[in-house]
Amino acid sequence: MRIVVLVSGSGSNLQAVIDAVASGELTLDIAAVGADRHGTGGVERSAAAGLETFVVNFKDYATRAEWDRALLQTVSSYQPDYVISSGFMRIVAPGFIDAFPGRYINTHPALLPSFPGAHGVRDALAYGVKVTGCTVHYADAGVDTGPIIAQRAVPVEDGDSEESLHERIKVAERELLVQVLGALGNAGT
Ligand code: GRF
Repeated sequence: MRIVVLVSGSGSNLQAVIDAVASGELTLDIAAVGADRHGTGGVERSAAAGLETFVVNFKDYATRAEWDRALLQTVSSYQPDYVISSGFMRIVAPGFIDAFPGRYINTHPALLPSFPGAHGVRDALAYGVKVTGCTVHYADAGVDTGPIIAQRAVPVEDGDSEESLHERIKVAERELLVQVLGALGNAGT
């Protein structure tokens, strides 16, 4: 099973996948790790791990459509079985979803369909929920929509800040992502 992982940030969830591959817990090939901007920790840690990396820098393209085309072309060139959006903070074009039907997977730090969007942790905290969590789902062209694959609950604790809650969610999110990738691999790709 070949995967391409897309990141926009530190890539700590991606690191869990890298570690699981290194330890033999996961048997898959991380064909490449890509970002939508320069200077992400995700690309840096991937390069340090000897992985192929790429940046399709959003700001380098005159139009959104050109960036969409470049992303699709670059990701497709690695012929992945699955594309994983792991903290990738851009919605891809419908053409991208069509190119990877049922093969584009996103992780989100809330229990979807509650609290979609870029501030899922902040929004859950502001609402005052007592339980939130994380979701791994097949992504479509919406914002954190698409069929749910797996979820894990994380209790909100008294005095939680967005940061403390997000860190606890990310612990669960990393485990869930590795578990889902393992199950997809076992299902045979
Ligand atoms: C994760 O919680 C992801 O769901 C959210 O951003 C976080 C990414 O963290 N969209 P990292 O880049 O893997 O550290």
